[in-house]
Amino acid sequence: MKEIEKNKIAWQKLSKDHYHHFKNRLSQEDQLLNEHIIKELGNIKNKSLIHLQCNTGADTISLSRLGLSKVVGVDLVEENIFYANQLKDDFHLKNISFIASDVLELSKIHQDQYDIVFTSEGVLGWLPDLDKWAKVVKSLLKDDGYFYIYDSHPFLHIFDEEMLAKGELKAVYDYFNAPADKAYEIGGYASKTQHSENYWWNHSLSDIINALIKQGLQIEYIHEFDTLFWNNGNMEEVKAGLFRYPQLKNKFPMSYSIKAKKIK
Ligand SMILES: C[S@@+](CC[C@H](N)C(=O)[O-])C[C@H]1O[C@@H](n2cnc3c(N)ncnc32)[C@H](O)[C@@H]1O
Repeated sequence: MKEIEKNKIAWQKLSKDHYHHFKNRLSQEDQLLNEHIIKELGNIKNKSLIHLQCNTGADTISLSRLGLSKVVGVDLVEENIFYANQLKDDFHLKNISFIASDVLELSKIHQDQYDIVFTSEGVLGWLPDLDKWAKVVKSLLKDDGYFYIYDSHPFLHIFDEEMLAKGELKAVYDYFNAPADKAYEIGGYASKTQHSENYWWNHSLSDIINALIKQGLQIEYIHEFDTLFWNNGNMEEVKAGLFRYPQLKNKFPMSYSIKAKKIK
């Protein structure tokens, strides 16, 4: 698919910067996962986990530091996987491996099953087809295993980000049946911004939940938060890595999490 190929080229331009940024952070901080994720995952010691859209593996390493028995990271971009393996070697980790694949095509090359399928922070918008995605998620789960996601809230993405940072709510993008949004800049959160055509799909919360339900997964919870995992400008850092517009405290869903189980 043309859009996925463009996204691959775009993300690849950030790989090296991300590697250096996250190597530096992981040398100084034990955990890069935010408080919501840590709290909601709870005790995952000795579980196996696959991390979808793992970028250069920084969160995969944070997850492994929670005591998992086996961790596998998957990302579209070969350069991300190259640097993820580099990070793994930098921190002398043994129980992690990485796979380069479009998550939507993963079942063609990988059939292992896991206790936990995990994905977080800037993920679903890069995927054009949630039904295909949910099918892959289900196929990766052992019976009684669970899926966990923490991501930005689709309601947030209907607003112009620059105006939001100035305190103005202007709805410019679609919430329902949103077409691919074509952009020309990418990155900036752990790298320099790069000029590169890329495509993003805003999926409504009901589309996300229904894709999981259609696969027979049982939703255990959905949580919504008024904090976001990047600073969009003029936000306050409420907890490590979690930001909020002070004037929108309790008023605006910025991120969400879902836990869904595969029942035998
Ligand atoms: C914002 S980053 C996610 C970072 C994440 N918070 C982490 O470090 O764990 C989005 C990632 O999705 C990946 N990606 C985009 N489209 C993908 C696809 N179709 N299949 C697999 N990975 C994809 C990109 O290469 C990028 O690394």
